[in-house]
Amino acid sequence: MTSLAVDETIARAVEVLRENDQGAYTIPTKGLYPFQWNWDSCLTALGLAHYDEARAWTEIDTLFAHQWPDGMVPHIIFHVWNDGYFPGPDVWRTGRPTETSGITQPAVAGFAVRRLFDRARDKTLAAARARALLPKIDAWHRWFYENRDPKGEGLVAIIHPWESGRDNSIDWDDAFERVPTEGVEPYTRRDTLHADPAHRPTKEQYDRYLWLLQHFRSLGWDNARLHDASPFQVVDPGFNAILIRACADLADLAEALGESKIAEANRDRAQKGLTAMERLWSDAHGQYLCLDRTTGQLIDSASVGGILAAFAAIPELRAAALAARVEHLAGRARYVVPSHDPDDPRLDAKRYWRGPVWLVVNYMIADGLTAGGRGDVARRITQSSLDLIRESGFAEYYDPLTGGPLGGGRFTWTAAMVIEFLRRA
Ligand code: GLC
Repeated sequence: MTSLAVDETIARAVEVLRENDQGAYTIPTKGLYPFQWNWDSCLTALGLAHYDEARAWTEIDTLFAHQWPDGMVPHIIFHVWNDGYFPGPDVWRTGRPTETSGITQPAVAGFAVRRLFDRARDKTLAAARARALLPKIDAWHRWFYENRDPKGEGLVAIIHPWESGRDNSIDWDDAFERVPTEGVEPYTRRDTLHADPAHRPTKEQYDRYLWLLQHFRSLGWDNARLHDASPFQVVDPGFNAILIRACADLADLAEALGESKIAEANRDRAQKGLTAMERLWSDAHGQYLCLDRTTGQLIDSASVGGILAAFAAIPELRAAALAARVEHLAGRARYVVPSHDPDDPRLDAKRYWRGPVWLVVNYMIADGLTAGGRGDVARRITQSSLDLIRESGFAEYYDPLTGGPLGGGRFTWTAAMVIEFLRRA
């Protein structure tokens, strides 16, 4: 790309961020997602920092202002009523002062805050804002291991597919069979009003999403009980890798700010997690897989979740194998990294997390591979991402075979990632 084209693309990305900026938080896109989403906000902050550092810190502060007393940071904050999204606060009924959902999302905040801090032009502001966030992020990490790893195995489970951020991945299909659908209250979906139903989860999946929600609600959203009471407990390598990376980054940040207790606790969590990740490795697939905690078996589904593990400081030979996986996928799909392996007949190139490419995932994989010495493969991922933007705009996700735009348009975190890719390219 010429430097003029880079400047123009960044300017277009900034326009998308500004359009979705509500003042103290951003929404993922108008219509489809009218509230604040957890990991969207943390990754979006990196893009905001490009033109307004104070605003970037505020994005994460706003999210943590709605942290639960037990330490959980919810996946959605329903700041302002909007009937365009289902399930809304009237369904979750978590009873928070500002309504939130009752489940969480990938813990990318520790990574994002460290990156904001490291790159800050205004060091005084960064130190003050990071120092205030440190104990909150630490409490969230503690919450994860206490509530989602009750046996202290070093890996946390998600108890609802939405927690993974990869809502309808093929990874969840088998475990999802155990989730009943009886007793689900009647409902009307809103996502299919804003996006093509063929690009969205199916009705059967939605019933199960809602059954779990109702089940957790009936237990009073008491996190001490939810893990063991859930028929769905899956250990996702990508989700754990993000948490492990966030713990390691928070440890470094805490060290730099003289908070040695927080540093030590997070260093230990990261170390324990990295050791435990080996349990998820599959020689047959050459990548990590999800583990169904209910059956104790690895799940036979080669999704991008197992490649996203590159985001953590995994052993060199594992990173090399994941780089080889991406190269293999690049030979099978025009654009990398597809959210599922095109060799698997279950791939659905247009349906959300069952095949399409997502730029946030690309960003984290590329970042991890660069750190692991595989800048060549990381550059390939970056190139694919930029090609998609040029050809199809700032879509929610993209068809890995045709590059066509899918889901919602003018998407905030896609725009933020483009700024990131271009400043790193
Ligand atoms: C979808 C995605 C999730 C994201 C949310 C808002 O639910 O699966 O990862 O956080 O949309 O963009």
